[in-house]
Amino acid sequence: MPEIAEQRKKIVLSGIQPSGNQFTLGNYIGAIRNWALMQDEFDCLYMVANEHSITVRQEPAKLRENTYRGLASLLAAGIDPQKSIVFIQSHVPAHAELAWILNCYTMFGELSRMTQFKDKSAKNADNINAGLFTYPALMAADILLYQADLVPVGADQKQHVEIARDIAGRFNGLYGNTFRLPEPYIPAVGAKIMSLAEPERKMSKSDANENAKILVMDKPEDIMRKFKRAVTDSYGEVSRGEDKPGINNLITIYSVATGKTPEQVEAEFAGKGYGDFKKACGEAVVEMLRPFREQVEDLMKNRDYLDQVAKAGADRAEHLALRTLAKVQKKVGFVPKP
Ligand code: TRP
Repeated sequence: MPEIAEQRKKIVLSGIQPSGNQFTLGNYIGAIRNWALMQDEFDCLYMVANEHSITVRQEPAKLRENTYRGLASLLAAGIDPQKSIVFIQSHVPAHAELAWILNCYTMFGELSRMTQFKDKSAKNADNINAGLFTYPALMAADILLYQADLVPVGADQKQHVEIARDIAGRFNGLYGNTFRLPEPYIPAVGAKIMSLAEPERKMSKSDANENAKILVMDKPEDIMRKFKRAVTDSYGEVSRGEDKPGINNLITIYSVATGKTPEQVEAEFAGKGYGDFKKACGEAVVEMLRPFREQVEDLMKNRDYLDQVAKAGADRAEHLALRTLAKVQKKVGFVPKP
């Protein structure tokens, strides 16, 4: 009965790395806030990818702290652990186990073409480890274990979802249908947030210039200061234009933060200067992030609750993951444990 088959909700899986200090305004608007919006339409799994993080050197205490912070951020962004499966990657050993197997079905040549590997190995020339190289096989395991249909990611991760699909197709070709082929999913609602200092470039959490990025946990006075210093142009008019990347970006940010259209924003600031507009942008972003920031801080004081969510999520995830892992082990010829 095709109607019934069509009723199955699509499975969504995504992950955030707990490395770096925290998320930018761009990550918040472009990623985790959208993940929360997807919960009703899809069956969602969201994880904190702490195994991916150690491909670059981490301070253990910070990694632990940031892992909890990642979990708290998912919850504060509106992800409901009753609706979605929220977990920490290392709590489900099947990820590492499947990653090993998939490593043997992933080619040196295809891994060598990954742009993120090239970037990260250039940045960490003293630590080009095997994990950094085979990172996409672990990410493929994350996705394929849950038979995910859709993987919401930013443009920088699209290539990794594509290789996961290639690995799945190769495995299916050898052993018969085992994995569902995933697709990258770029949410319809979402805006690209650019750097405040160099508005031709994406806002990045690794930017060394503090004034270029808004971090979700920034204090209100820091947010106000960063907007005040935001790079604009000499036109002096709050309206979009091809050669006005700074103002275009501020209009995007203000419209996302207030729910107004860019046209409404232009009308609101007609005849006003950049100073007023930047101040309004700062205030709108402070107000948008305030409940998120406060909730993350509250959750961080409640380790027991976070542990409880992580445990329940890992148990649910593991139940699903082990089904796929068992199938795969059987297909490749591993002897079952008697
Ligand atoms: N590699 C992703 C990033 O750095 C995080 C991630 C890990 C992920 N596993 C995933 C994203 C699986 C989507 C699906 O952003």
